[in-house]
Amino acid sequence: MNKTVQRLVVEKKEIVNKDNFILSLKSPVPLVEVQAGQFLSINVEKSKDVFLRRPFSIHDVNYGNNTLDVLIKSVGPGSAALKEVEVGDLVDTIFPLGNSFTMPNKGEKVLLVGGGVGIAPMLYLAKVLQPITSDINILLGSRKGEDQILLDRYAEVGNVLTTTEDGMVGEKGYVTDHSFMKERLQDVGRIYCCGPEPMMKSIAKLAEEKQVYCEVSLENMMGCGFGVCLCCVTDTHEGHKCVCSDGPIFNIADLKW
Ligand SMILES: Cc1cc2nc3c(=O)[nH]c(=O)nc-3n(C[C@H](O)[C@H](O)[C@H](O)COP(=O)(O)OP(=O)(O)OC[C@H]3O[C@@H](n4cnc5c(N)ncnc54)[C@H](O)[C@@H]3O)c2cc1C
Ligand code: FES
Repeated sequence: MNKTVQRLVVEKKEIVNKDNFILSLKSPVPLVEVQAGQFLSINVEKSKDVFLRRPFSIHDVNYGNNTLDVLIKSVGPGSAALKEVEVGDLVDTIFPLGNSFTMPNKGEKVLLVGGGVGIAPMLYLAKVLQPITSDINILLGSRKGEDQILLDRYAEVGNVLTTTEDGMVGEKGYVTDHSFMKERLQDVGRIYCCGPEPMMKSIAKLAEEKQVYCEVSLENMMGCGFGVCLCCVTDTHEGHKCVCSDGPIFNIADLKW
């Protein structure tokens, strides 16, 4: 589906915790089909000094209601200004952008790994996977227990596993330390991963060792978001690729990590 510029209406703003919030954005026309792993870029009109659009993964989609959800962590001026939008405001977006996660074979065991706000694309991905496989395992990692968010929603779409560095929720340590990784990774057909780059590299290393197919969603800093400015490139075995238009989803075997 070709990308379009659309002004979407903020239908709901949900404050999840002190850092994270969800915007439900409603299209005035029937929503175009979006694939799991794609993203949208938002013009931050509430700020006078954020000039570039900011990219956010599609967290959830409701075609019946023509809404797209984005889960945003407030980390700087753009995301902080987006937290100030109110229900009824119009938000200028471009979507759907980027490629998408590939689908597993029927019934294949899959592992979705999200670190920090990298959990965002995993909810819609799990929903898209549900008709294909019932063996959906979702491993969510965070630094602190209080950063483990939306667990009930993920539990509706898969078997949720958690790790925290402070040990307050789930198993203590990094996602790579979870017992699933030692005991059950060899049974997994596909891993899908999004989060901080060091985390994704550790998951990629484990996947390579166990010879499990693995896709990661890269979050390089972006300018245009659709392949023009070349500021988001990553090095692959086929040369430099734009994360925004060739990605954000890459097979780890293609990356020069
Ligand atoms: C394809 C894609 C999907 C994304 N999906 C989500 C999402 O679903 N939810 C979400 O909250 N964020 C997501 N991000 C990251 C989000 O775009 C940035 O956090 C946001 O642009 C920061 O803008 P800002 O003005 O608030 O902060 P800035 O001032 O731009 O940055 C604040 C701090 O965050 C760092 N930073 C900014 N962007 C990134 C990044 N991409 N990776 C690592 N560090 C960064 C900066 O170096 C700086 O230290 C995604 C990024 C990409 C490329
Ligand atoms: S952000 Fe401009 S080319 Fe990718």
